[in-house]
Amino acid sequence: MPRLIHALGPSDRARLCRHFLKLNDEDRRLRFGGALPEEMIRDYVDGINFDRDRVLAAFDSQFAVIAVVHVGQVDGTAELGLSVLPAYRREGLAQRLIQHAVKSARAHGCQRLWIHFMSDNAAMAALTRKLGMRVESKQGEADAWLDLPIPTAVELGVHFYQVQWDAVLGAWRQWLPQVA
Ligand SMILES: CC(C)(COP(=O)(O)OP(=O)(O)OC[C@H]1O[C@@H](n2cnc3c(N)ncnc32)[C@H](O)[C@@H]1OP(=O)(O)O)[C@@H](O)C(=O)NCCC(=O)NCCS
Repeated sequence: MPRLIHALGPSDRARLCRHFLKLNDEDRRLRFGGALPEEMIRDYVDGINFDRDRVLAAFDSQFAVIAVVHVGQVDGTAELGLSVLPAYRREGLAQRLIQHAVKSARAHGCQRLWIHFMSDNAAMAALTRKLGMRVESKQGEADAWLDLPIPTAVELGVHFYQVQWDAVLGAWRQWLPQVA
């Protein structure tokens, strides 16, 4: 069964934090550029501005975050940071999160998508290649770029319908016990 992908909000910070804390040091290095300790991960999550950025996630049956993309936006460029828990890799979740991020970024007026990753990240190198992104590598780091077309009216309508659903589900998630 395909997993649903929804936007997170400020009430999901604890849920999001638990996701990142499940990543081992190597995954934290690949995700953040360094094996961040717990306090720095908490600071990162506390610092997310949900009014400006979008955070899209896939969940398990307990509503624990199993995969997440943080979409930041600066000057028409959407910057993506991604992580998928090891048990759920190679199911296409990262690819789907990026596709959702592309729709969201286009709906918010972005013209470009940017993913920064370490050059030794074979998974990201293969993933960005598969998505047809333009990749530039230098001094152990890589930048992948994708030009984004202007959304059609129908795409915009579908996106904002999804945003309404995300708000409803986000409100509902607040009442769930934070076990996972
Ligand atoms: C990179 C990462 C997000 C990929 O997540 P994922 O959900 O497993 O990726 P997908 O299943 O969507 O993979 C899509 C495609 O990417 C490529 N790919 C993904 N993982 C790969 C791997 N380990 N080796 C080679 N290719 C890989 C494949 O082409 C794959 O398509 P296929 O399965 O049909 O062959 C995940 O490995 C991860 O969280 N790594 C640690 C954190 C990180 O590196 N973040 C990125 C920095 S921003």
